[in-house]
Amino acid sequence: MPTGTLLYAQSGGVTAVINATAAAVLQAARARRVRVLAARNGILGALAEDLLDASALTATEVRRLAHTPGGAFGSCRLKLKSLAEDRAKYERLLAVFRAHDVRWFLYNGGNDSADTALKVSQLAAEYGYPLTCVGVPKTIDNDLAVTDCSPGFGSAAKYTAVSVRECALDVAAMAETSTRVFIYEAMGRHAGWLAAAAGLAGDGRDAAPHLILFPERVFDEADFLARVDAVVKRVGHCVVVASEGIRTADGRFVAEAGGQDSFGHAQLGGVAAHLAARVKDALGHKVHWALPDYLQRSARHLASATDLAHATAVGRAAVEAALAGQNAVMPVIVRDGDAPYRWHVDIAPLARIANHEKTMPKGFIRADGYGITAAARRYLAPLVAGEAYPPYGRDGLPDYVQPKVPGVRRRLPRWQA
Ligand code: F6P
Repeated sequence: MPTGTLLYAQSGGVTAVINATAAAVLQAARARRVRVLAARNGILGALAEDLLDASALTATEVRRLAHTPGGAFGSCRLKLKSLAEDRAKYERLLAVFRAHDVRWFLYNGGNDSADTALKVSQLAAEYGYPLTCVGVPKTIDNDLAVTDCSPGFGSAAKYTAVSVRECALDVAAMAETSTRVFIYEAMGRHAGWLAAAAGLAGDGRDAAPHLILFPERVFDEADFLARVDAVVKRVGHCVVVASEGIRTADGRFVAEAGGQDSFGHAQLGGVAAHLAARVKDALGHKVHWALPDYLQRSARHLASATDLAHATAVGRAAVEAALAGQNAVMPVIVRDGDAPYRWHVDIAPLARIANHEKTMPKGFIRADGYGITAAARRYLAPLVAGEAYPPYGRDGLPDYVQPKVPGVRRRLPRWQA
């Protein structure tokens, strides 16, 4: 039986299936009789020595956690800078790890979090502290490098494609006397993966979504408006999917909600409202728009079974890698075939993943820039495949759990940032 404690922390925007990864971590560690602590609110809790005894969760609570969206232990956006700039913080983390005999650190996040896990492993090596750091992938943005896809994306993609398909039927039904243009705003920051997933809602020139706006393409308002008008004239209505991260030729976001997080990312949001106003003013069509925002990243009721399987597999693989002493690595999804879809989990060095951002390849965006290609469909289709409905209670609502996890007694003086 390995000795020591495993610390698990969630980081960045949560997903519909990140708790499935957490549940898999807990189950795999339990099978190996390893104690698991969780940091409350991600790395913030690790710095503040605000730790939770995740091993105290019952097997039933862990099973319910596996189908509950959100982040069970809390997550945060806190980017640690370089080892030189934030040395005191990294040293504090090591002090906390030492105080609680943490020998394995699992950090469940995106590319910035992979960078933090890598740096923690470097400092531990410098101090000769025996620590194995493993990044665990997640992000609805699907912008993690090396892995074929990121757990969390498939479910958000399924929500997007389903919502656009359903809404398009509504718009089509009323277009003659009411709304002619509908605009749906997809998350994804600098990567158009979620917007692209909307393309699965329909195929063919006149099928919705008629126009997709990608952050990988410069937004040209005049061209966009002309295309909207042409679709309305031809089809009778037009469904547009706009990525929140679209920019004009001068590099400016079309819509920025204002403010930045500690990762240095601008808060995006408001593209659909902006475009709707432009369509109404310039073309005179009646417009509706939707900002699904957190709905798309928490929609566990519409989770993809493939995504859930990925999220579970990376949690399990992360524990196995950590206990085998594979340091500064991340389990990644490797695609072995499209149809039938086949995949397996491999282990990749964090150095290849940290701080990289994977955007849509050229071959996935149609030549006119407003739709997806057959290659993109082949890539996306398996990721949204299969339903993984949560159990529903007698109240007609999903049976989600917010487990009360006991805190761990502090062993160090309070920390001042
Ligand atoms: O988790 C990724 C993401 O959902 C992006 O797509 C989005 O821009 C961002 O998070 C929103 O972040 P926050 O919740 O911190 O505003």
